[in-house]
Amino acid sequence: MMQKQRYYVTTPIYYVNDVPHIGHAYTTLAADVLARFMRLDGREVFFLTGTDEHGQKVEKAAAARGLEPKPFTDEVSANFRELAEAMGFSNDDFIRTTEPRHYRACEELWRRIHAAGDLYLGDYGGWYAVRDEAFYRESETVVGEDGIRRGPSGAPVDWVKEPSWFFRLSAWQDRLLAFYEANPDFIAPESRRNEVLSFVRSGLEDLSVSRTSFGWGVPVPDSPGHVMYVWLDALTNYVTATGWPNTHAERAGFWPADLHLVGKDILRFHAVYWPAFLMSAGLEPPKRVFAHGWWTVEGQKMSKSLGNVVDPYAVIGEFGRDAFRFFLLREIHFGADGDFSRRGMLRRLNVDLANEFGNLAQRTLGFVARNCGGVLPAPAALSDDDKALLDSAAALLPTLRAEIGRQAFHSGLEAVWSVIRDANAYVDREAPWTLRKTNPERMGTVLWTLAELLRRLGILLQPVMPDAMATLLDQLGVSDRSFAALEAPMPGGVALPAPSPIFRKVDDEAGKGV
Ligand code: ME8
Ligand code: MG
Repeated sequence: MMQKQRYYVTTPIYYVNDVPHIGHAYTTLAADVLARFMRLDGREVFFLTGTDEHGQKVEKAAAARGLEPKPFTDEVSANFRELAEAMGFSNDDFIRTTEPRHYRACEELWRRIHAAGDLYLGDYGGWYAVRDEAFYRESETVVGEDGIRRGPSGAPVDWVKEPSWFFRLSAWQDRLLAFYEANPDFIAPESRRNEVLSFVRSGLEDLSVSRTSFGWGVPVPDSPGHVMYVWLDALTNYVTATGWPNTHAERAGFWPADLHLVGKDILRFHAVYWPAFLMSAGLEPPKRVFAHGWWTVEGQKMSKSLGNVVDPYAVIGEFGRDAFRFFLLREIHFGADGDFSRRGMLRRLNVDLANEFGNLAQRTLGFVARNCGGVLPAPAALSDDDKALLDSAAALLPTLRAEIGRQAFHSGLEAVWSVIRDANAYVDREAPWTLRKTNPERMGTVLWTLAELLRRLGILLQPVMPDAMATLLDQLGVSDRSFAALEAPMPGGVALPAPSPIFRKVDDEAGKGV
């Protein structure tokens, strides 16, 4: 048998000190949709997420709870696993940076970078933001009216001075620029790519990659007192999970990753430091890094201090997880910033899902149940109107391949909804309720056309709304649900199970403070 084409997609590994919120759910959702899409399209997929458990920030959070870091991370890492379950994520692995397999990979990567001559011991003196676990150039920081110096993200910085290992990032500037040049799709979207390019062109300083003032990290091989910089450790998770350095591991063939999905806040680490570390160690860089935008809530930055952090469990509880999944990907252009609002969520559920899509299914399947004894009629010859509708549905797979392939989830969904709106107009135009009396055979063809259309929509939308589409496909009696099943039409003359609504509207007044 031919080897299936592989697809490896990752999410950031999240800092365990935070309570999971919609921002975390968002990135992993995008990865989940890609993973599900590629599986249905016949690829062998590896979808990875996990937690980032070392560093000063986590050590501090553990201390604040009066716990040692390890028991603390054991406890809070579970919150991210639970979120994955609640959101219906289909990740194939969940990596924790405190696992032995990860220590092995970090040590090996370190040794290789060292052997390549890219590490040297020195003294670090510079600005460090614990909140971002990032070093900043002095020129990137500003002192606020409150007298506090902050980095570009707004996180306060402290002056750090300690012995440290350095990575010769300065020596990688030209090779990185050559790499970006040779791989124009490596960083997306385009605007972010330009930001990275100008950052690298402005000159790179060597990077401090070990810390000596605290101990919660992966020990540097043969260098007592040093733990690896948490970002070197964290980024390595992506190769750890492939079984590296064991080249015979089950997932060894998945490196290089096809896509690292990240938020715009951490693009520099993924698009500058990470490829330099990898190339230094003799490994291939990932094929692509996509940095998506930032969610605000009702127009405001989401923050613990403002108390407006959106709890994904509350949203799922009120609107259902498929509606939430749809909203997140449909509401804004992937890549741009967006705002989470109750009004927006209600509109997507009540209009796009319930009125437009749900109604189409309800009208069709309810009609078959009431007027055809629950048996979907077999079609007679298709009219031009039928063919046009089915052709537009058949064009969706190539469209989605292209749009989802460039992470344009919003445009993919817009293309699907344009077919849904056409289908509703088709129902009104063909008026099966009239045909029932005037031309029952034609009525049967119209119903079959609609059922076939719904089958296509159900199969194609599984990655975004797995539960609702499973229900729809059950009601259509469809068992083969892969994209390959789109190559043949569905049979007519089959008995269908009793239909029920696939989406339920939520009353605008019933606000529960989401
Ligand atoms: O940075 N809107 O972890 P982290 C959109 N451990 N996305 C958001 C968001 C928001 N308001 N808030 C968070 C780290 N995110 C490192 C990563 S990877 C080797 C190490 C998402 O817990 C977004 O994906 O701070 C962002 O990049 C990520 O959470 C940061 O998660
Ligand atoms: Mg963060």
